[in-house]
Order: sequence, then C-alpha cells, then structure tokens
Amino acid sequence: MSDESATLKYNGQDIDLPIERGTMGAPGLDIGALRSQHGVVTVDYGFANTANTESGITFIDGNEGLLTHRGYSIADLATHCTFLEVSYLLLFGELPNTEQLDKWTTNIKMHTLLNEEIKRFFDAFPRSAHPMAILSSATNAISTFYEAYHSPSDPEAVEQSAVRLIAKMPTIAAWAYKKSIGQPYVYPKNDLEYVENFLYMMFGLPVEEKKIDPVIARALNVLLILHADHGQNCSTATVRFVGSSQANLFASVAAGMNALWGPLHGGANQEVIEMLDRIAADPDATVESMLARAKDRNDPFRLMGFGHRVYKNYDPRAKLLKEFAHEVLDRADANDPVLDIARQLEEAALEDPYFVERNLYPNVDFYSGIIFRALGFPPRMFTVLFAIGRLPGWIANWKEMIEDPRTKIARPRQIYTGPPSRAFVPLDER
Ligand code: ACO
Repeated sequence: MSDESATLKYNGQDIDLPIERGTMGAPGLDIGALRSQHGVVTVDYGFANTANTESGITFIDGNEGLLTHRGYSIADLATHCTFLEVSYLLLFGELPNTEQLDKWTTNIKMHTLLNEEIKRFFDAFPRSAHPMAILSSATNAISTFYEAYHSPSDPEAVEQSAVRLIAKMPTIAAWAYKKSIGQPYVYPKNDLEYVENFLYMMFGLPVEEKKIDPVIARALNVLLILHADHGQNCSTATVRFVGSSQANLFASVAAGMNALWGPLHGGANQEVIEMLDRIAADPDATVESMLARAKDRNDPFRLMGFGHRVYKNYDPRAKLLKEFAHEVLDRADANDPVLDIARQLEEAALEDPYFVERNLYPNVDFYSGIIFRALGFPPRMFTVLFAIGRLPGWIANWKEMIEDPRTKIARPRQIYTGPPSRAFVPLDER
C-alpha cells in the first residue's frame, strides 16, 4: 500500500481515500472503510468500476487491446505453448521447464478416469440435456468422491483437486456429448496428449481405431489457450465469490460454469453461430437487417459476439481467431459460408456509427464458433469448450484468493428502495 491518497468531500467533511497501485493499469481508491467510518456506501452496478481484488495473473488493457498472462503476451503463449504449459503458468506463476512440464503432464494423465459409479449419473440425464448442465452438475457430483480433499486451507489437497479437475474435465465433456448422441462413452487413453485425448474421447468409438489429426489438435490447443483466463470476468468473479465462503474448489468451479453458460458471457459462442446460420438460411435475415435490429432500442436483439465490458478496441483474442479461422478452414478443407457472412457483418458493424461511437468490436466468441464447427464440434458443445479452456484461470484465481490473507467473504452492500418500516396487518384485515 502506498502513502498516496485522494480526497472525497462528503457531508462537509474531507475524507482521505488510500490509493492502491499495481504494476500496470489504473490505480484504485480504497473505499473499504467509508461505511464504517462515514456511514456511506458506494454504488457500482455490474462492478463496472470496482476492483474486487489485487491479482498477479492476467493483465488487460482494453483501450490498447492488450492481454497478458503472468506478463507473457497471449500471442506468444498461443504460438509457442501447449494448453497444459499455459495452465501451469497460470497456476504456479512461471512457465515450466522440461522436467516440471513432464511431471505436470504425467500427473494430469494419472487422473483422467472418472469413478465408474459416475456413469450412472450421466445416464440419468435426458438425451436432450444441454451439455453445460451436465458439465456443471458432474463437476459438483465428482467432488463427492474426494471429500477428504475439500479443505481450502490444505495446499496439497487444493493442488490435488486442481489436477483432478483439469484431468477429468475433458472426460466429463466428451461423455456429456456421447450421452447426447446415444453413443458409448469412450475411456481416456493415457498415451495421448491432453487435447488429443479429448478429441479421441469425443469422436472415437470403442469399435474402431481413431487417428487424431495433428492439425486439428494444434488448433484446439490454441483455442483453449485463448480462453484460459481473462481477469475478473463474470464466471471467474463467481468462482471467487463462491470460494470466499470457503466452499470447496469443485463447488466453486461448478458455480463458475453456470455463470459462463449465460448468453452474455461464454454462451455467446453458441448464439453467434446460430445467428450466422439464420442469416445464411433466411433471405429476410440479411446483414443489414441484423444490424438494424441490434441498433433498435425497442428490440432486445444484440449482435452476438460484439462488445465487451473491458475492450474498447479489438479484442486481441478475436484478432488471432479471425486469422486462424481462415487457416483452419483452408487446412480442414471445410468451406463454411458463415465465415464470409461473419466477415461482412464485422465490416458493416465497424463502419456503422452506432458501433463506432460505442466502441463495439468483435469479441473472442465472434470467430471461435466457426473454428469449433470446422473442427467437428456441434454448437451446443461450444460453451463446454470455453469452460475446459477457462478452467485453469478459474482455479488460479480461486487459489490466489484463498492464499491472500486479506480475503473476506464476498458480501456487497445495497441501497434499499423498498417500503420503510410499517405496522403488520393481520390476514383477516388485508
Ligand atoms: N449489440 C448491440 N448493441 C450493443 C451490443 C451488441 N452486441 N453490446 C453493447 N451494445 C450497446 C448497448 O446497448 C449500450 O448502448 P447504449 O449506450 O445506447 O445504451 C452500449 O452498447 C454499451 O453496452 P452495455 O451493455 O452497457 O455494455 P456492458 O459492458 O454492460 O456489456 C456485453 C458488455 C454484455 C458483452 C455486451 O456488449 C453484449 O451484450 N454483447 C453481446 C453478447 C456477447 O457477445 N457476449 C460475450 C462477451 S465476451 C465473453 O464473455 C467471453
């Protein structure tokens, strides 16, 4: 904490607010004692201007379109690393050396199986169940097999839970998909790498050999890295909120998955592809008509995959994904007409005064779905892929919160606008 402060005038008094500075980014005014000392709270809908923590994991400069994890640029990480390497970086603060990476990878491989009992849990869902519902429920459900590892104050138990979550998530995700198409669950194969193993369980069958295309595996690696962490977004803040009550890591992550599922957050990737498909299929749903609807205040429709709370410039992940979409579609020989529609929609929006004035640019979800589909995933699995990618970010944030001695249970205030105190009216007099 520095000696700097800012002065707030309230009720005829000068109130000093300590200023907290990080290594980069906006400084923060510490308003923690305002209510106890001066009887006033602050209001900030959607926490648009409130830092709920210090964090050393991810830095975003929304005006410059900059994203770094532990100081490394997202472009460098996506170009040079595997997803498990980036997961290690997020969790432990440094890129692993060869020995550390081998140990980490082997440890993950040792925990890819689900307890056999949990198979019956998958069976209980209707065939039509959304895989995000299965993913979050199964994450909570598997915690019951590891209750001895629930204590947030036991670092070894926390690390073991982190390994189990990262190891088992692709198995849960693939089984949620197999359930939806009525195919047998495929068991993990530990001579495969993390992403290859996931693709094998997703698209393999017990009755035949499945070769994993290295181009597809590399593409999925990059996509998972691009989703791995993103500061105090809705799902990560949820994981911290839930964890602040000392709920276990599994329960906290399951809550984050439910937050991610919403269409304004990770659910947007499914919405984008459905919107692009509608434009492709319906002659009345043109690029122009979609933009007109997005601008109409009386229409709840929003241009999905556009806009971001933090980025007021091009989302750097969307920039990488746009280039990558062409590369993947060319190499996978998958000509998807919605890529052209996406480009037309983007060009038209970026020239439209409504979008320009509001700094609305494509976000990570705008192009990711096109690539996920080219890799063979159905739209209902897109948010699940986002969740597998975001998992190390959730865990790293949960761990950082638990290890911070200043952590308190998250408990915002409110401005009460209901009726003032009034006399109770008995039932027969109402
Ligand atoms: N289409 C049309 N108008 C939009 C859009 C959009 N996609 N996004 C924002 N706006 C408009 C708003 O109507 C508002 O206009 P106004 O000032 O005239 O009222 C203005 O731009 C500011 O938008 P807010 O909703 O106040 O911005 P906020 O930071 O609260 O919301 C959000 C950010 C939720 C991402 C929003 O841009 C949105 O709904 N986008 C579409 C959904 C989406 O793509 N979500 C994925 C986000 S990335 C992620 O979570 C992984």
